Order: sequence, then C-alpha cells, then structure tokens
Amino acid sequence: MAIPEEFIQELKSRADIADVVGSYVKLKKVGRNLMGLCPFHNEKSPSFSVSSENGFFHCFGCGVGGDVITFIKQIENLDYVDAVRFLAQRAGMTVPEGNRNDGLTQLRSRIYEANREAARFYHKQLYSPEGREALAYLRGRQLTEKTIIHFGLGYSPKSRFELVNHLKAKGFTNNELIQANLANQSQRGNPFDRFSDRVMFPIIDLRGNVIGFGGRIMTDIKPKYLNTAETPAFNKSRNLFALQFAKNKANGQLILVEGYMDVIALHQAGFENAVATLGTALTQEQATVIKRYCDEVVLCYDADEAGQKATTRAISILRPTGINIKVVTVPSGKDPDEFMKSYGDQGPGRFRMLLEKSGNDVEFRLNKLRSRYNTDITEQRVEFLTQAARLIAGLDNSIEMDIYISRLASELNVEKSAIKQQVRRFSRQHFREASQREQREIRAQMSADHDRINQEKRYHLRAANAEEALLALLMTNPDIAARIFPKLPAEQFMTSFNRKVYDTLKRRFDNGFDFTLTDISGEFSNEEISSIAGILASHPRENHPETAASEYIQVLQEESQRLTPEQLAQADDATILEQLKMLKEKKK
Ligand code: UTP
Ligand code: MN
Repeated sequence: MAIPEEFIQELKSRADIADVVGSYVKLKKVGRNLMGLCPFHNEKSPSFSVSSENGFFHCFGCGVGGDVITFIKQIENLDYVDAVRFLAQRAGMTVPEGNRNDGLTQLRSRIYEANREAARFYHKQLYSPEGREALAYLRGRQLTEKTIIHFGLGYSPKSRFELVNHLKAKGFTNNELIQANLANQSQRGNPFDRFSDRVMFPIIDLRGNVIGFGGRIMTDIKPKYLNTAETPAFNKSRNLFALQFAKNKANGQLILVEGYMDVIALHQAGFENAVATLGTALTQEQATVIKRYCDEVVLCYDADEAGQKATTRAISILRPTGINIKVVTVPSGKDPDEFMKSYGDQGPGRFRMLLEKSGNDVEFRLNKLRSRYNTDITEQRVEFLTQAARLIAGLDNSIEMDIYISRLASELNVEKSAIKQQVRRFSRQHFREASQREQREIRAQMSADHDRINQEKRYHLRAANAEEALLALLMTNPDIAARIFPKLPAEQFMTSFNRKVYDTLKRRFDNGFDFTLTDISGEFSNEEISSIAGILASHPRENHPETAASEYIQVLQEESQRLTPEQLAQADDATILEQLKMLKEKKK
C-alpha cells in the first residue's frame, strides 16, 4: 500500500523516537543523545544510542540503526505498512485507507479471513454428527466444554472437499485456499482439503489473526500432527501457541512446553501462562518474543530423552537473552498433559509444587553432567569436577558462580579453593574466546557494511586502508589533531567517502567542535555512521599516534601520485620509469 509521504512525515513528528524506543529500552541521557542496552543484540554496556533531535537510533555494537519506523519494524517483527499502522495507532492517527494494498499484504489479509472462516467451520463440525468421534476424543482427553470453546478446537471432516466448497461459496479463490495451505492442489489443479479427519487446533497470533492450524489424528497413523506449512501469514519460528492468552497472564513468567495438548491441559488447570513452539525446536526469534513478555521461563518439556535434549538446546538459546531459566521435569516419563490427567483434581496442586521446587538451568545442567559419572571413583570425580568447573566458568554472575562452587565443594568433599582456581582458569579462557569471537563478528559485520558504503575502496585498497587508519587515529587521539589537520589537505584522500569523513572532522575541528562518533552522527546517514564505527572498531589504539600518523600520510602521498592502471596504459616512458622508481623506493 502506498502511504502518502505527508502522512509518514506527520507520523514521524508525532511519534517521538525517544518515547517509542523508551518503551522498550531503558534510556539514559548521555550528552545530546540517549543511550541504553541494545535490544537487538546481547550486551552488558550500553552502545545503543537514540538521537531525539535527528530522529534516529543506532547501535555502535551491532550496527543496526534507522528511524522510528525501522525500529518498530525490527522490534515488533512487522513489515513496513504494519509498522506504520502500529505507530499510527499509538499516536492516535488513522492511516489513510482507500489506497490499494500491495499484493502480499492483500493476500495475507485474505489468508487471515480464510483461516478464520475455516476455524469457524471446523469448530462447527465438532458438534455435527460427523464430528461426534472427535468430540468424544477431546472429552476423553478430559477437556471441558469451556476449554474446547476457549481454544476454538474443531474437527476437519473426512471428505476432502467440504472445507474447500464451504470457503469457495464464501468467495475465496482456489489460489487463496492453496496459498493459505488450507487446500492442496490435485494433479489436475483442483484444490482439495489439506486436513481430513483430524482434531483441529487453531493457531492465533498476538493480534488475534488465525495464522494456521495443527491437526491431530485420532489413531496411531503418522504423522500424529499435521501443521500448516509456512505461508505468507504463518511463520513458525516467530509465533508461539497460546501466547495471545499467556501474555496477559504471564506476570513475569511463561511456562514453555512441547505440545499443543500440554498447553491446553495447563491452561485448563489454571496455568494460563503456558505456551508451546509450533512443532519445531525453540528459535532465537521466539526467544526474543518470550523475553518481551516475561523475565522468567520455566521449561517443562517431556521427561523422555528427546525432551531433555530439547531442554538443553532451549537453555542455550534462552541463556544469552539474560532471562531467568527454570527447569521442571515432570516425573515418571510423563508430559504435562498426562501429568494433569493422571492426578485429576490433585493435578493443579501437584504441578504448583513442581513449579515451586524447580531448579534453575545451571542445576539442570550440573545434574545432567553428574549423572554421567560415578563420583565414588576418584578419576571420575576429578573429571566431573573439571567439567563442572568449565560449566560454572561460563556463567556471568560471580555470586552465582560462588554458590555453585560452594555447593560442589561440600557435596564432593573437596576444598572450595581448588574448584575456585579451576573455575578461574576456565573463565579466563572463556572470556578470551568470547571477546575474540565478539570482536571478530563485529569487525566482519562492520567491514562488510563499510565496503558497501565506500565502493571505491577496492580500487584504492592501500590508500583507503591508510585513510581509515588516519581517521581512526584522529578520532581516538584528538590531541594530535592540531598538528595533523594543517598538514593534510582533504584532497589527499583518494576515496570520496573517507574524504567526506575527513572533511567533516576537519571542519568541526576548525570551528572548535568535538568530533567523536556521536558528535558527527548528525552529519551522516545511519549506514555511514555504522561504517565509521566499523573503522574505529577495526583499528586498535596506537601507542605512538603521531609517528603512526606520519606513516599513513606518507602512504597517502605515494598513492596519490601513483597512476591508475588505465593512466599507466596511456602514459609515456618517462612517467612509467618514474612510477617504477617510486615503487622500488617504497619496497625498501
Ligand atoms: P508430542 O509427540 O510430544 O505430542 O509432540 P503431544 O503434544 O504429547 O501430543 P499428544 O498428547 O500425543 O496429542 C509435541 C509437539 O510436537 C509437534 C506438535 O506441535 C506437538 O504438539 N508434532 C508432533 C508435530 O508437529 N508433528 C508430529 O507428528 C508430532
Ligand atoms: Mn501428550
């Protein structure tokens, strides 16, 4: 949809970026900007800056940046138009409709409508003679009438054309039904119902759209569950089953379980903060969503081997978000649904007890580790303690570390100081590795950005490298600037982007202004600022900045005299000889 430019401008002026960002990130005033912890990557010291004045945000750590619309797009996982709608609603403005939707947005909203109509149809089928067995099945699984209605459960009839016919009568096209994955296409190109003879679980997003379905077969035939495939309206890695209910009941905590039925059984038992992934392992995107609605996750996966593996995996995805993690293992190999069923009236109380005595993720991992060793045997005890020390070294809270060290020491009857020493050794190693990794990642990202911004770099690699080193030197050693700027005219810079940066620094200096990254950010686009941040990040502090500077200036002078290959091809002999001489001198 083409939204008029004036509307966007008005929206941007009303939706103050500091306000909008401030409702997601705790911001603190630093100079003219606001700073906070970046919501798009994990960090401990704030590198996320917001400029109210210029209407943009930028993270010096991971390089993201943009205006208020970009921010909402990224943090809410919305496309451009939906982000505009979101902001408009917040600012009490109405997006001018009447404009045609673009193709994809239009298709998506048709899919929502088709899905909603399908959910209604399936639900109704449950109470028809044909759905009798399905209804009995759900009741047999101890679901109450209220629960069945609350979750909008349904039944997809056996015949493969009922839903298709129903939706076509409501005006949906074959293409829409196929795109919604409600129908498959026969060899002759005719659509037929995708779900047949299954109990249907509608999947609903946070805005109340029906985005897809899970369908459970009532026999032992495989697959047990058939789910909607990815469609323009359905993204499995972003959504969570029942989050639309759970988010209002979270109160700081969500319970993450494996299956649809586990969620439903828990909600029915009063644990309305339970959610599940949609038939896949937990993803980073889901972890980000979860983090937005709570600060503690209780993992309550099946007690079987697969469930325990999934728990370990989920911990490794959730841990970096900084969220509190607890682990509940439902006893005797059951999943939460079976647990509720087997305890009947006592189910909720017993589950509450499980929640209360649940351990955290570190305890879970330590217990798991310990179960692999026989700690009565000295060698195995040593090996267990070594591995445990490595695990503890990976924690980033020293109080937490100390607690586990003490506990291990008393449980295994060893000196606390011995374990502590081991942990310290591993943590140094861990810290080194982590910071090297982080540096590498940032640098790779930054240099990729930078090469895009400075396209001339590849033709003048040596000059551009010297230019960048100089820019970094000046920005990190403003004290030498007074001697460098007069010596080096901007014309000496060969790549125009770096020249522009140098020019800006020089001009600010001449006018008596500071020229740190934040100071100059108003004069460049977000991408350009990321790119300059990249230059800074990839140049470590020089011990002798002044000497280094004169070496770089020397390189620039040489390079600016050097002819390009094209010029060389047309040059006379004398010029070529001169160039050769210059190259030789440089080698010395
Ligand atoms: P489970 O096999 O643990 O089933 O799968 P369940 O949830 O306990 O289901 P019931 O109690 O037997 O009815 C957990 C989740 O994995 C996905 C579904 O989302 C299911 O809820 N799954 C499972 C599939 O997508 N396809 C399958 O064939 C099986
Ligand atoms: Mn189950």
